[in-house]
Amino acid sequence: MDTLQAIQTRNSIPRLEDPAPSSEEMFEVYKGALRAPDHARLRPWKFIEVRGASREKLANAFLKTAHSLNKDLSESEIEKLKQAPYRAPMLIILAADIKNHPKVPKVEQIISMGAAAQNILLGIHEIGYSAVWRTGQMAFNPEITEALGLEANFEVIGYLYIGTSSGKEKPIPNLDPKDFLETWN
Ligand SMILES: Cc1cc2nc3c(=O)[nH]c(=O)nc-3n(C[C@H](O)[C@H](O)[C@H](O)COP(=O)(O)O)c2cc1C
Repeated sequence: MDTLQAIQTRNSIPRLEDPAPSSEEMFEVYKGALRAPDHARLRPWKFIEVRGASREKLANAFLKTAHSLNKDLSESEIEKLKQAPYRAPMLIILAADIKNHPKVPKVEQIISMGAAAQNILLGIHEIGYSAVWRTGQMAFNPEITEALGLEANFEVIGYLYIGTSSGKEKPIPNLDPKDFLETWN
């Protein structure tokens, strides 16, 4: 698969099952993630891989965060949070390691982390796996940073849910680049 073909055929898949990529496969994918553009070489990337039974630890962090954010959680909300990490055999917590730098604001470091995440999506797609990037209440707040045991400078920018497509794939939208393009003469 060439690069453009991988980019053009990537498709987010919410229904994911075993197998997930192996550690050896992910090692190569992470090498791609570490080629994200990175102003001043701050390396603002931390990937926390959660597989199998360790998803319970993530479910507990989700619950702790939800309890900190909302005092009155219903039974069904609690159950939904507990089940959330089990929607895929493997997840990657995307935690941007934000550093103070006179020329590189936080937003640039978050963009770099987002580019690294996209490289992961493309890398796993190329080797035959699928994923979806999710955020919601469990991202972009200090409560989730703390619940995950991270230092306060980390910003959780989301989660990649990764596995093998269950086969139900949506059609890839047929967008026309011309609708998004302006050319200056
Ligand atoms: C930063 C970010 C956060 C997202 N959060 C969610 C989310 O919480 N729930 C969701 O269903 N989709 C979320 N999405 C969208 C999906 O990951 C996906 O892009 C969307 O379903 C469109 O599918 P496509 O990527 O195949 O075009 C998010 C995307 C991004 C970039």
